[in-house]
Formats: sequence, structure tokens, C-alpha cells
Amino acid sequence: SQTSLKDQLNRPLRDLRISVTDRCNFRCPYCMPAEIFGPDFEFLKRAQLLSFEELERLARVFIGSFGVEKIRITGGEPLLRRDLPNLIEKLSSIEGLQDIAMTTNGSLLPKHAKKLKQAGLKRVTVSLDSLNDEIFGKMNGRNIKVETVLDGIKAAAAEGLGVKINMVVQKGINDSEILPMAEYFKRQGHTLRFIEFMDVGNSNKWNLDSVYPKKQILDDLHAVMPIEPIDPNYKGEVATRYRYVGTDKEIGIISSVTDAFCSTCNRARLSAEGKLFTCLFSSKGHDLREPLRSGYSDAQMEKLVSGIWGNRHDQYSVERDQPEKMVSRTKVEMSHIGG
Ligand code: GTP
Ligand code: 5AD
Ligand code: SF4
Ligand code: SF4
Repeated sequence: SQTSLKDQLNRPLRDLRISVTDRCNFRCPYCMPAEIFGPDFEFLKRAQLLSFEELERLARVFIGSFGVEKIRITGGEPLLRRDLPNLIEKLSSIEGLQDIAMTTNGSLLPKHAKKLKQAGLKRVTVSLDSLNDEIFGKMNGRNIKVETVLDGIKAAAAEGLGVKINMVVQKGINDSEILPMAEYFKRQGHTLRFIEFMDVGNSNKWNLDSVYPKKQILDDLHAVMPIEPIDPNYKGEVATRYRYVGTDKEIGIISSVTDAFCSTCNRARLSAEGKLFTCLFSSKGHDLREPLRSGYSDAQMEKLVSGIWGNRHDQYSVERDQPEKMVSRTKVEMSHIGG
């Protein structure tokens, strides 16, 4: 039976983001800087990861008991998890689920797009920060070519998967790519979302000066390609949407820094090792793996999760400019909860 579970700020739980691995084949300096995530870095071991069976069981509880409608598979790079389409198949058949998507760097999509689509995946969001090989090579930390990602995007679209593009904008690094990216993806017909560089994790040397603000992005675009705001697709949508005037092509802006959207945040994040995080900027997750493995019933799991969500009062982006709340906060790494 479904409860109408709300957190302390009256927000429901609708969106579950599941990280399936903490590994990635890229080393974007804003997410997994190579100096820190080097050859000796200890990633999670196989036995620490939730199995597909465990994930399916949890997903059933989240969907059946709390009304979660959307699942997003993330990483690290989710396509590094072996046999991922088997997980998609299990999840996509759960009754009540309305949307299942994946956030990926795209590099392995040529190999996997067909199976993912067959397994029931509806759409992918591919991260791409530039169309220029020199800039992109630096931003992925591994000199990976733009074409590698474009091939992934084409493979996904060819299989009939929905496609969106995420571009993290860092001032002085790739803000020159805003217009070329907008023009290219307008032509391709894929929605591009610009993401303000965020202070996630502890190792990306974030500061406010490196943020290229939403307002500036909009001004840059509007000067060349007039845009107008459009309504959200659904309540609590992360991106604010705009349309190129006179067309049905759109773009989005994700402005966690200059225009917070915590008041409608309905997202929970599950790390690959089974910790539940109630905010992208949480210091600590709540372990669900031990209870799962020690034989909790569905009813007991439901009680555990409703306690966690019911106590939630996170609104990090709203509090960001209140220094007294920020003192020496350690945050979960992006590669653990996939953004
Ligand atoms: P759609 O389902 O297509 O609307 O995707 P989405 O925007 O929910 O997911 P995606 O993984 O593409 O997220 C895009 C960016 O928004 C990523 O950089 C995320 O880290 C960021 N993001 C998503 N949810 C939140 C959130 O709750 N808080 C903050 N601060 N950033 C978020
Ligand atoms: N700020 C903003 N976006 C980030 N991402 C990773 N790290 C950051 C950051 N520090 C993005 C990725 C991907 C999405 C899930 O999060 O590029 O598109
Ligand atoms: Fe990998 Fe994505 Fe992080 Fe880049 S942003 S290191 S592609 S998980
Ligand atoms: Fe939700 Fe935390 Fe992001 Fe605010 S900062 S929208 S509470 S995840």
C-alpha cells in the first residue's frame, strides 16, 4: 500500500537515482581529478556493490510503497557495470514505474545502445562539455576525442532512445563552447542542458569565480539565437526550459548555484554500495545494504526508508551562501552518487 510520504519541507519522493559503479573511464577534473583518482585509488570491490537482485528489490519498495515514478541509472560511468542491460530489464518491468533513464559519458553507447533499448531503457542523457578536441580532451582528463561521444549519441538516437545532452560550464575553460554546442545540438534536435559548475565532492577546487551563471548563459544565447521560457515538463524538474523562438527545439539550464531549486527536490540517491543519500551534497548516506543482507522484510525496509525521508530537511543550494552552515563540511563524491 502506498503512503503519502513527505519530508520535513513537505517534499514527496518521486525520483530515485541509482549509482551502479563508482568507476569511470574518464577523469573529468571537476568530478574525478586524475591526481586523486589515480592508479592506487581504491574503488569499491564487487562484494560491496548491491547486486541486481538487491537493486530490484529496493526499487520495488521505492516504487510500490512511496510512489517513486522515475529511476535514473548513474555512476561513475554506469556502462562499466557488467551486464547492465540485465538490471534495466528487471527494473523497467516494475509496475508503477513511468520513466527509466541513464546518465552516461556516452563512450560505450555504440557497444551497448541496442541491448539497453531492448531491455526497456527509455532515454539517455549524455555528458559532453565541448565540441573542440583540445578543450574536451582536458575536460575529460583522458584526451578522449569528441567523436567518441558523438558516436555514442548517434548510436543511442539510432536505436530510438530519447537523448539529452549535459554540458557543465566552467568559466574560462569552456564558456566559449556555449554557442557552438547550442547550434550543433539544435540542428541535431537533441535538448542541450547547461549545468552551472557545482561544489560537489571535496576535490574539484570549486570556487564561485569558476561558475558561469545562468543569466550570462541566457544572455549569450539570446544575443544570437532568441529564446523564450517554457513550462516545466513535470513538477520539480531540475532544468528550467527555453525554446528557440519560432521552433520546437529547446534547451535547459541547471542552475544549482545561482538559482537553487531545492524547494521541489524529490530526489533520493542510492550509491553503488547501497547507501541512501537525501542530497547531492550530503556528508553521509544511510546504509541499506546491511539491513537488506541481514534479512529485513519489505515492511521493515519500508519503515527504514520512510524514517530517513521523513526526517529529511536538506536544501544545500539554498544554504550555500550562509557560511555558518557550511563550516568544514565533507561531502559525498559525485562519482559515488552520479550527480
Ligand atoms: P531529466 O529526467 O531529463 O529531467 O534529467 P535530470 O536533470 O533529472 O538528470 P541529470 O542526471 O541529467 O542531471 C543533470 C544535472 O543536474 C547533473 O549535473 C546533476 O548533478 C544535476 N542535478 C540533478 N539533480 C540535482 C539536485 O537535486 N540538486 C542539484 N544541486 N543538482 C542536481
Ligand atoms: N558540477 C556540475 N556538474 C557536474 N557533473 C559532474 N561534476 C559536476 C560538477 N562539479 C555532471 C556531469 C554529468 C552530470 C551527471 O553531472 O558532467 O553530466
Ligand atoms: Fe566520469 Fe561523468 Fe565524472 Fe566525467 S563527470 S569523471 S564522465 S562520472
Ligand atoms: Fe535537492 Fe540537495 Fe540538490 Fe537542493 S541541493 S536540489 S536538496 S539534492
